Amino acid sequence: MNAKLDSTVTARPVSRETFDQVLVPTYAPAAMVPVRGAGLDLWDQSGKHYLDFTSGIAVNSLGHCHPALVEVLTRQINSLWHLGNGYTNEPVLRLALALTEATFADRAFFCNSGAEANEAALKLARKYAHTKFGAHKSRIISCFSSFHGRTLFTVSVGGQAKYTEGFEPLPPSIDHIAYNDIEAARAAIGDDVCAVIVEPVQGEGGVVPGNPEFLKELRALCDKTGALLIFDEVQCGMGRTGALFAYMGYGVTPDILTAAKALGNGYPIGAMLTTDALAQTLAVGTHGTTYGGNPLAATVALSVLETINTPAFLARVKEASVNTIAMLQGLITDYPQVFSAVRGSGLLLGLVVSDAYKGRAKDIQKAAEAQGLMVLIAGMDVVRLAPALIVSDEQIAEAGRLLRVAIDGLLKA
Ligand SMILES: Cc1ncc(COP(=O)(O)O)c(C=O)c1O
Repeated sequence: MNAKLDSTVTARPVSRETFDQVLVPTYAPAAMVPVRGAGLDLWDQSGKHYLDFTSGIAVNSLGHCHPALVEVLTRQINSLWHLGNGYTNEPVLRLALALTEATFADRAFFCNSGAEANEAALKLARKYAHTKFGAHKSRIISCFSSFHGRTLFTVSVGGQAKYTEGFEPLPPSIDHIAYNDIEAARAAIGDDVCAVIVEPVQGEGGVVPGNPEFLKELRALCDKTGALLIFDEVQCGMGRTGALFAYMGYGVTPDILTAAKALGNGYPIGAMLTTDALAQTLAVGTHGTTYGGNPLAATVALSVLETINTPAFLARVKEASVNTIAMLQGLITDYPQVFSAVRGSGLLLGLVVSDAYKGRAKDIQKAAEAQGLMVLIAGMDVVRLAPALIVSDEQIAEAGRLLRVAIDGLLKA
């Protein structure tokens, strides 16, 4: 029988090699294939156990298969999956109420990813300025090393040239400044700027927290010029820094906030939050997406939000952050030839490699994985840790132990 017509593919064995045969090679995934997860525990096809300090890149903040999420999702799966935007649904209405009650925002737009949330934010800003001030006010200011997604617009706004190479021509009227450079911001943000987009904590760009003075100055410059301030909290939002959203910890309120990743804990959803006045820019027919505000995604997101947004939960994130930083400081003290500094915010932390290990963050990641610890990298010089926010002190200590075994092995090699 023609393999293409063989209907028994569900039962056919697959492996990491299958990826190289039938997937577009946009990624280079690890050699092991995870098959089951619970909390921060993960098991691969061979039954080997891993402690997951990646959370699927800051997504599974309540861990894998959180029982409360499994329960609400199962209930929703048995009642209603999808309608399309000709109809609204109860879960999305409740989610919008909860998000607007919890934040500065009055209105929410839902989509399926971080890139789409940023795309909506940038389109809103362009259209708002176009309508209110005229076509000349179209320039977007972003930061070098930032990451805002992979659509052509968001990847062009992102500050990493390697991601746009070969995709030209790019959308025009986008300029970049150095992150945390107040003078550069003053020089760049003039009357022709419609939006300034910034990650309060840069994630992909190396786990670099924004300076409060920088973010405050961006707010002031936007107020002065009529530009909209967009905070991309796709990675640093939803409790990751110890505040529900990072802007709350900084005391700087944006005009538009984007969230995704942890909002759905692995169920794809993105959100753009904004004020009542600005939301009117996107009138009926101006923007949309088939799946945005899907009842399944909205059900999960509401449960995530209600679990994370309690004083006790957020206080524990801060406590776990202190304990993780202490563990990482111990590594820097004991392995100065490998690690030089720890930086970040809450449970989004970067371990910067020393000069001798420059460019070798991936080697450290692989050595940790061999010991059963999953960590991320952020560029080639930073090992990034983003454990689920429910991480226990025992798991933090175990991650430290596994990292030490991994580094000892690397040093001997
Ligand atoms: C800050 C930030 N913005 C946007 C994105 C893009 O999100 P997505 O991959 O869901 O499109 C990411 C993804 O890593 C991110 O970290």
